Amino acid sequence: MNRGLRNLDPALRQAWHPLCRSTEVTRSPKRFTLLNQNYVAYRTPDGELRVFEDRCPHRFAPLSLGQCEGENLRCVYHGWVYDAQGNCVEIPALGQNTTIPDRAKLAGPARLQESHAMVFVAPLEPATPMPSILSALDPAFLRGDLPVIETRASAGLLADNFLDMAHFPFIHAQTFGAGEAREVPKYTVTRNGLQFEASYEHEFSNREDPGVAAGLRPLLQRRRLTYRYTAPFHLELAIEFLDAGGANVIGFFLTPLDDESVRIYSSLWRNDLDGSQERMAEAIDFEVAVVNEDLYLQSRYEVLELPLDITAELHTRADKTTVELRRILSDFVASVSKE
Ligand code: FES
Ligand SMILES: [Fe+2]
Repeated sequence: MNRGLRNLDPALRQAWHPLCRSTEVTRSPKRFTLLNQNYVAYRTPDGELRVFEDRCPHRFAPLSLGQCEGENLRCVYHGWVYDAQGNCVEIPALGQNTTIPDRAKLAGPARLQESHAMVFVAPLEPATPMPSILSALDPAFLRGDLPVIETRASAGLLADNFLDMAHFPFIHAQTFGAGEAREVPKYTVTRNGLQFEASYEHEFSNREDPGVAAGLRPLLQRRRLTYRYTAPFHLELAIEFLDAGGANVIGFFLTPLDDESVRIYSSLWRNDLDGSQERMAEAIDFEVAVVNEDLYLQSRYEVLELPLDITAELHTRADKTTVELRRILSDFVASVSKE
């Protein structure tokens, strides 16, 4: 295998991707892009989600400029009306009692599902599992959403970056990285199909713990980091504070928009903030600063492609997670191209 994975690799059509956040879809049709394909999304009066390709079959006008009428969607150009299944039910220029052509139908993605307050879409029948974050189901966790970020980047390289453990002291020197250990502890990666999990524990200086100042706990404490990955671009990092208690879970869901740009949906789940929205707002601001440090580099990669050939780059034992990422994506691409 001597290829890299670019944002518009055809294999990616057979995977789940986030199209938008659930709150972004309303009764007013809106355009969202995934893999260079524009979709129109809206809700029926019952709040049900509808997603179609953003192109009227008549003269290819963008349906996102149209409007909802009850369950239906009316095209802005010649007023053709489509029902919630995408079948044309009215062609005003032909008057009443006319036969609607068979081809007057809207195309949709193969699969559509709302999960984690996001809309996930698979353009073709997906060969990847739906991503899931366990802490999101636990009511003890408060959720906070980062603003949606759109950037020049390769989704594969961004996934690589979020799974990488050796860059903290360097790229993140201005936020949390300066005090981080440079050496990556030994860890194992457990793969399960197109997903993996990697976990390790280490000691760190817990400067945020009020129990340190109160003399209840030492500054040097234990922390467990667990990375969970689901192909192609869904990532979770759970940071558990083993001495002070509590956990900070960061989720990343990446949408490849076109060959050179990506939308990043990231949310935090925390059970250590006493339910405080104010502290969550601070945590979000901090995380945005951390992501911007990553994007400083990621947006400047000249070649926006994740090498899938394992011999192309130079890997060390500190790179086990990111090597597994390449193996899984490589297997995924090979399996769907065989079909
Ligand atoms: S382009 Fe949509 S009705 Fe003509
Ligand atoms: Fe980073």
